[in-house]
Amino acid sequence: MRNLIDTLYDTSNLRDDQLLMLLDEIKSSEDLQYLFDRAVAKKKTHYKDAVYMRGLIEFTNYCKQNCNYCGIRNSNTTVDRYRLDKNAILSCCKEGYQLGYRTFVLQGGEDPYYTDARLVDIIRAIKSQHPDCAITLSIGERSKESYVALKEAGTDRYLLRHETASKALYESLHPNMSFENRRACLYTLRELNYQIGAGFMVGLPNQTNEDLVEDLRFLKSLSPEMIGIGPYIPHDETPLKGAQGGTVEKTLILLALTRLLVPEALLPSTTAMGTLDPNGREKALKAGANVVMPNLSPTDVREKYELYKDKICTGDEAAHCRQCIEGRIKKAGFSVDMGRGDHTKFKMDC
Ligand code: SAM
Ligand code: FES
Repeated sequence: MRNLIDTLYDTSNLRDDQLLMLLDEIKSSEDLQYLFDRAVAKKKTHYKDAVYMRGLIEFTNYCKQNCNYCGIRNSNTTVDRYRLDKNAILSCCKEGYQLGYRTFVLQGGEDPYYTDARLVDIIRAIKSQHPDCAITLSIGERSKESYVALKEAGTDRYLLRHETASKALYESLHPNMSFENRRACLYTLRELNYQIGAGFMVGLPNQTNEDLVEDLRFLKSLSPEMIGIGPYIPHDETPLKGAQGGTVEKTLILLALTRLLVPEALLPSTTAMGTLDPNGREKALKAGANVVMPNLSPTDVREKYELYKDKICTGDEAAHCRQCIEGRIKKAGFSVDMGRGDHTKFKMDC
């Protein structure tokens, strides 16, 4: 096991059968600790002790899609839907800026209300008030023209998890969506010079270790600047109600392997990890993650953006989240970096 981990550390690659062997067979706490320590060592060669902070604004829970795992899917009629208008988004950014954030992540369902014109207006306004900040969008699949307009308005980065690299599994989870189109969106975003983020969920129903190897291979070949990996957590108002869901331990293994395969990636320690385990986010940092995304959304909408059950931090003010996360990062032995936190490849351009 350790030979494989060392080869992965030294070469940033392994064959598929070797990755599968690691996923199938790594069990002992000593081997796991070895893997996590190597992942942290690799992260330190590129980013030292830094953990980058991004302010997350969940600005709409309307969605036209029906992903079978997602709590805000279109067919879930129990969701209390909301949209934040331009002023509400700007005041989240203002508060975030005062708290020190220099990246704002605007995330939402695929909501046709937010036309290009509306989004361009919002992005331009954020950029004119906070020219030293980066804007990340995470609003799903759009046309190339739309991605062009959003980039020209000042968007720097775009998160679009590929969700799973297995075509069969993807199609079983995403009614009326296209596996090929999701990937095509990622390639378009790359072509348009966005810093791109892909990623996947761990523990999806019927997901095998072979599927996870496909995820790792896809990420290795795409080498996105950001990679979001989190456990799948079931939601009762979805067709997957009663599914088992992913575990923190398996997600940590995938995070560490990803760090070693794509060493310079910006890898978030996700809220989903903190939801499954009170120390989940610290554990992720100790397995190679180097980004956290505390919530800046107004507290009265937080509970409504319920992708999965028991999501944490829904009642906390932005300032509280900032402080809480900072304490956790320091306690885990890392330091908080409030800068824009661009990927190393993009630092010269900005
Ligand atoms: N609509 C945008 C998109 O499609 O990229 C962004 C919003 S979407 C809710 C953000 C991410 O949440 C998804 O990419 C998915 O991986 C994750 N997610 C959704 N439901 C989840 C669940 N039940 N458990 C864990 N993660 C989930
Ligand atoms: Fe659209 Fe989840 S189904 S955000």
